[in-house]
Amino acid sequence: MQFEGSHILSVNQLDLDSINTIFNVANKMTPYALREKRTKVLEGAILGNLFFEPSTRTRVSFGCAFNLLGGHVRETTGMASSSLSKGESLYDTARVLSTYSDVIAMRHPDAFSVKEFAEGSRVPVINGGDGPNEHPTQALLDLFTIKKELSHAGMGIDGMHIAMVGDLKYGRTVHSLSRLLCMHKDIKFTLISPSELAMPDYVIADIENAGHKITITEQLEGNLHQADILYLTRIQEERFPSQEEANKYRGKFRLNHNIYTQHCKSNTVIMHPLPRDSRAQANELDNDLNSHPSLAIFRQADNGLLIRMALFALTLGVENQLEKYECPVNWYSRKADR
Ligand code: NCD
Repeated sequence: MQFEGSHILSVNQLDLDSINTIFNVANKMTPYALREKRTKVLEGAILGNLFFEPSTRTRVSFGCAFNLLGGHVRETTGMASSSLSKGESLYDTARVLSTYSDVIAMRHPDAFSVKEFAEGSRVPVINGGDGPNEHPTQALLDLFTIKKELSHAGMGIDGMHIAMVGDLKYGRTVHSLSRLLCMHKDIKFTLISPSELAMPDYVIADIENAGHKITITEQLEGNLHQADILYLTRIQEERFPSQEEANKYRGKFRLNHNIYTQHCKSNTVIMHPLPRDSRAQANELDNDLNSHPSLAIFRQADNGLLIRMALFALTLGVENQLEKYECPVNWYSRKADR
């Protein structure tokens, strides 16, 4: 795909070549993310970081990614403090804010809202999550992480087995990730969820039409032993009609050290887009796995910075100018010692 000036709204816009391009640029971002050196390639540029739904990692990493390329960030959080609460349309908001920014990252609780917003925008818009629909940048960082983690075991993505667990109905990360995986060969999917929270039919159809193998089950233990990747998700309580309804599923699937050791291969990679719900009633991914070498959750979050830096560089057309605007880091940085 042609990145410069383009919106990134859905993983369906991508193909394997464009994913490779993103990953190659993401790898070039490592020394800047580690503060070994700086680049001011986007000095003077402004990111409009519009988050109309709660977020920690995605919002902050979009902002930091832009800062690490030398740009400035202007942030809006929460619907109540924006004119959307006065009835302003997404189109009007986009027309105005796109004059103030060079690129916009946006999260919104409604499916397809970011696309609607992008129609009014004069600058590239990157989808940071649109309701239960898609989360393309998370899926890219997940795929990037899977690729790196499996390469340590001498494996590639083709032929791998992934178990996706939890709220597969409302969890947008698994919708987007499944579609990226569909572009590869011979993937085995084990989809583990309560039947009420099953993967939407349209995602299942995409997986089947691409010729991959699917097992659908409500049982966690006993269905993990072949998985190379175990991808856990949170019950998306904010998308349920009521808290009571969400509570029915909280804590239904839990992974801890004991279950992992008994039911998984010794090197199954444990992933979660985060936040993990660590309240006692949920505790979907126990702290007793925190120092396990196969726990990749924080490496996923680290990779998010690289992927988002790559997307900004590509959509603004500066991916080949990083070195030209390099300068040294003149403060003490522990990251560079890693
Ligand atoms: C996810 C999201 O917002 O969809 N979080 C994230 O962006 N890393 C998953 C979640 O909230 O459960």
